[in-house]
Amino acid sequence: MAGETEGTADYAGGRVLATRSDGIGRVVFNQPDKHNAMSVAMWDGLAAALDAFDSAGDVRVVVLTGAGERAFVSGADISEFDTTRGDAEAQRAYHRLTSAGRARLAGFGRPVIAEIRGFCLGGGLGIAMQADLRIAGAGAVFGIPAARLGIAYGFDMTQALTRVVGPAEARMLLYTAARIEAAEALRIGLVNRVVEDAALEATVADIARAIADNAPLSVAAAKLIVAECQHAEPDQTAVEAAIAACFDSADYLEGRAAFREKRRPRFQGR
Ligand code: COA
Repeated sequence: MAGETEGTADYAGGRVLATRSDGIGRVVFNQPDKHNAMSVAMWDGLAAALDAFDSAGDVRVVVLTGAGERAFVSGADISEFDTTRGDAEAQRAYHRLTSAGRARLAGFGRPVIAEIRGFCLGGGLGIAMQADLRIAGAGAVFGIPAARLGIAYGFDMTQALTRVVGPAEARMLLYTAARIEAAEALRIGLVNRVVEDAALEATVADIARAIADNAPLSVAAAKLIVAECQHAEPDQTAVEAAIAACFDSADYLEGRAAFREKRRPRFQGR
């Protein structure tokens, strides 16, 4: 249930917070007493926040982050496991729900940036891997503790991991369940960039601003085409349509005019 005031909303009893300002949406996972562990209700909250960003129509980029200094998301909320993931049958229902949440994130039409401070573990990494970009603070810690809990990391998350870091590094993380630091995450390509923790929010804000100021149809085309490049059979019709939308847009006229007039372009997404 959302309580919305002037671009601010909260979901899942306040455990997911969403704000929207100047074209940038921000979602905060807010369960700091559990290092922002992700409960079932928070998955619903995340989907509702993304739905609200879609309805608002003015969000050009979304930043995901965790509340406080200690964690992005420490994984699924283990305190719910007896009820939500007690056995294989319960796990199937749980997986349907959480994989739908990740698919919702992956299918979000505009870029998503994960701003990662502190622990980013298990299902938390599963969320971050659905983001288009992962920017980490130097103190961030990554890992997939599934093998230490006696559970298996789901197919969609393992697929995302394998695509991001390749099968060899995916195996290393999954088999050892080891925690790795931000520098190692950067080395294996798990994150795009690592900056000092104190500079993380400003760095992500700069990247988000740059994306939000760019031509939305160009950014959308880039998102779609990069995604199609991952498919065995890219949807060339969708790719062509996304490219055509750019070349027929008012923003393309604006881009050229701004270049001629040596000024910053003002794009409208059409
Ligand atoms: N689910 C539920 N509660 C969690 C949690 C999770 N994923 N991660 C942390 N918490 C809770 C702890 O139980 C603890 O609660 P308590 O104060 O009531 O005892 C609180 O958050 C603080 O965690 P704590 O372990 O005391 O902090 P720490 O700094 O020593 O360690 C972690 C931090 C993240 C390394 C450790 O909490 C951990 O290993 N968490 C589980 C990570 C995990 O296995 N995730 C994958 C789940 S599939």
